[in-house]
Amino acid sequence: MESSYNQWILFIFSSFIIGMKSLKEIEVKIPSAVQVGETITLQCNYDLEGEPLYTVKWYKGTREFYRFIPKELPNTKVFALPGIDVDLSKSTPNEVVLRNVQSEVTGRYKCEVSSDAPNFDTKFNSGYMYVVDAPLDDPSLLIEKNYVDIGDFISGNCTTLPSYPATNVSWYLNGIRIPESFSRKLEVEPEFLSSRRKHYVMISGVELQIMESTFQEGKAALSCVASLFNIYRGERKAILEEAKPRPKPSSVLSPRDDRSESQRLEIPSLQILIIVLLLMHVHR
Ligand SMILES: *[C@@H]1O[C@H](CO)[C@@H](O)[C@H](O)[C@H]1NC(C)=O
Ligand SMILES: *[C@@H]1O[C@H](CO)[C@@H](O)[C@H](O)[C@H]1NC(C)=O
Repeated sequence: MESSYNQWILFIFSSFIIGMKSLKEIEVKIPSAVQVGETITLQCNYDLEGEPLYTVKWYKGTREFYRFIPKELPNTKVFALPGIDVDLSKSTPNEVVLRNVQSEVTGRYKCEVSSDAPNFDTKFNSGYMYVVDAPLDDPSLLIEKNYVDIGDFISGNCTTLPSYPATNVSWYLNGIRIPESFSRKLEVEPEFLSSRRKHYVMISGVELQIMESTFQEGKAALSCVASLFNIYRGERKAILEEAKPRPKPSSVLSPRDDRSESQRLEIPSLQILIIVLLLMHVHR
C-alpha cells in the first residue's frame, strides 16, 4: 500500500521534472572590437540538458549566415552574406570562424539554438561587434603658436587619419584630462556613399587661456589622444613655452589682469579656460 503510494509520488515528481526540462540560457562570446583583416571566432555555449540538438543558427542582424544541423549531411550550411567568409574547416557546433573580417561586417551577431522533439525549444543570445579600421598613424597637432604669454588664448587642432568608426579625441594639459563637459561637439553628417562603411577624419579643436599655473618651469604640454576602443591609441604632444617670464608680483598687480579678472572663467583644477571650438567628422 505504502510502496504504490511512493511510486505514484515518484511518477508525478518525474513527469514534473521532464516537463520542466528545457534549454538553459545561451551564452555567446563575441569580441566587441576587432581589427580589419583579422580571423575571429564567435562562440555559442548552450546546455541542452540531455535533449537532442536540432539546429544552431548564426545571424548577422536578421540574416542567417551559418547553420549546424546534426541530422543532415553535410551538417553545416553557409549562406552568402557580403563580407562574411566562414572557415568551415574550423567551425563547430559551438564556434563559427570568420576570416579576413572587413569594416562592413560590423554589427549584431546572434546565435539561436533549437532542441529537437519533443520540446522544440528555441533560445538565442547576441552581441555587437565592431570591425575597426584604425588610422595608419598618430594624429597631427597644429597649434597657433608655441611661445605664449600669461593671459593669451591659444588654439590648436588635432586631426586624425581616416578610420572606421570615428576616433574619440581627448585633450590633456600637463597630463591632466581637459573635461569633456567643457567641449562642444559639432558633427557634420557625411554623405552616403555605398554599402561599405564610411570612414571619418576627426578634427578636434581646442582653445585655452594660459594662466600662471599653466606653466611648470616655463613650459606646458598640450596633447591630444585619439583612440578606438582598446585597439588604437595615437598621441601627439606640443610644448608651450612662456614667452616673457615675469616676476610674480608684477603679474598679479598688472592692471590688465585686474580688468579681465571678473570676465575670466576658471576651472579650479586646471585653472584654464577651455573651449573646444569644433569637433567634426569629415568624409574621407
Ligand atoms: C583649426 O581649424 C580651424 C577650422 O578649420 C581653422 O580656422 C584654424 O585656423 C585652425 N587652427 C590652427 C591652429 O591650425
Ligand atoms: C568613445 O568613448 C566612449 C566613452 O568612453 C566609449 O563608450 C566608446 O566606446 C568610445 N568609442 C570608440 C570608437 O572608441
